[in-house]
Amino acid sequence: MKKWRCTVCGYIHEGDTPPDVCPVCGVGPEFFELVEEDKISPPPRAGEAETKKAVPVTNGQQDPKSMQSALFKISYGLFIVTSVKGEKINGQCANTVFQITSDPMRVALGINKSNLTYEFIQESGLVGITVLGENGHDLVRRFGYSTGRDKDKFAGLEYSQGTTGVPIVSGGIAYLEGKILRDKSIDVGTHYLFVADVVKGAVVEDKDPMTYAYFRKTK
Ligand SMILES: Cc1cc2nc3c(=O)[nH]c(=O)nc-3n(C[C@H](O)[C@H](O)[C@H](O)COP(=O)(O)O)c2cc1C
Repeated sequence: MKKWRCTVCGYIHEGDTPPDVCPVCGVGPEFFELVEEDKISPPPRAGEAETKKAVPVTNGQQDPKSMQSALFKISYGLFIVTSVKGEKINGQCANTVFQITSDPMRVALGINKSNLTYEFIQESGLVGITVLGENGHDLVRRFGYSTGRDKDKFAGLEYSQGTTGVPIVSGGIAYLEGKILRDKSIDVGTHYLFVADVVKGAVVEDKDPMTYAYFRKTK
């Protein structure tokens, strides 16, 4: 059986061809590379392969891997994004959460439309966001590599109910609750860019946030 590595997140897919969509980070088959079985290793550390594969800037078309490496240089945090649908709760890991305006306080989130969390956010118009600290690896693993369609990701986990009704996962350094602004949120293809007003938030522990780069180096 052939093995294919996602050059974006390191996910390994088994099959004759790469998958249509990476189930972890959502990129297409063009970002998968064939790997030999005995050479499967973690994705490159920031600054290594990127430097080797770098191409000079030209006016012509660039190869997708170089562009992907450049995109990797954008810095992100890591978050657990939660929502509700009736009595049900769900959550996922996300790196694409960022403040977009300060007055009013608004955040934007990029959520894959095939995720269960996407369905819940669309239904309720509510999001909970736990900002992870540098010890958040277990929460990334719990929420980022499986879907709530297959299991209850909250089973045995400490969390609280926010004032809007969304679950707030414990163990982060800060949390926010947001109300989705439907007229400002847009379909961007595989993902939906939600824009939300921040209606509640607090720092829980005054520690450094986990960055995506730090997670990739230490996972
Ligand atoms: C480090 C990391 C970052 C991720 N970032 C995002 C993201 O920004 N947006 C997204 O839609 N999925 C992201 N994912 C993938 C989702 O967390 C994953 O597909 C999850 O299983 C979806 O769960 P659900 O179907 O229960 O909603 C990320 C996963 C990991 C491990």
